[in-house]
Amino acid sequence: MSGGLRPLTAFDLPILEHLHADSFPEDPWSAGSFGKLLALPGVHGLLTQASQRPLGFLLWRRAADEAEVLTLCVQPAARRRGLAASLLRAGMASLKRCGTQRLFLEVAEDNLAARELYKSLRFCEVGRRSGYYRRSRGPKIDALLLEISLKDD
Ligand SMILES: CC(C)(COP(=O)(O)OP(=O)(O)OC[C@H]1O[C@@H](n2cnc3c(N)ncnc32)[C@H](O)[C@@H]1OP(=O)(O)O)[C@@H](O)C(=O)NCCC(=O)NCCS
Repeated sequence: MSGGLRPLTAFDLPILEHLHADSFPEDPWSAGSFGKLLALPGVHGLLTQASQRPLGFLLWRRAADEAEVLTLCVQPAARRRGLAASLLRAGMASLKRCGTQRLFLEVAEDNLAARELYKSLRFCEVGRRSGYYRRSRGPKIDALLLEISLKDD
């Protein structure tokens, strides 16, 4: 398969490290930390690629009937092409098939691109952690806790 989405595997760890560092330069996660996460029960993810070039990924953890997004990123040059939305839609469909009822995530209040993305998918704000994110410069930023129901209406 040269394009589209595929499940993450342990062979993808260097790719995940590279993609994550490009999107989160202030808090990059190592290949080793991705390896530990992917070895945990309930942790799965999807990679999006074009012409076999990795462009972004979504990682989540499922426990009982709930799940949380652990991280999501798309290469800067590949943004605004609907890749993150398709990763989230496919992830939610996969979670729904496993009987998951709710998906949660945290987003920094100043991350307007991500907040617009989640709003477009109808996530709702259900909480706030004051001063949760520390930046190298400037004030601490609140984390917003968002939720979406995966139950059939
Ligand atoms: C947030 C992020 C994952 C979005 O990825 P993306 O592939 O560009 O998002 P999509 O193209 O799927 O966007 C879908 C919708 O989200 C909204 N959106 C996405 N980026 C936006 C931006 N920069 N400004 C405004 N709205 C935006 C729009 O409604 C967009 O639909 P449209 O393009 O038709 O207007 C990407 O910007 C990223 O990797 N950022 C750095 C890492 C990060 O912040 N991850 C999320 C942590 S919670």
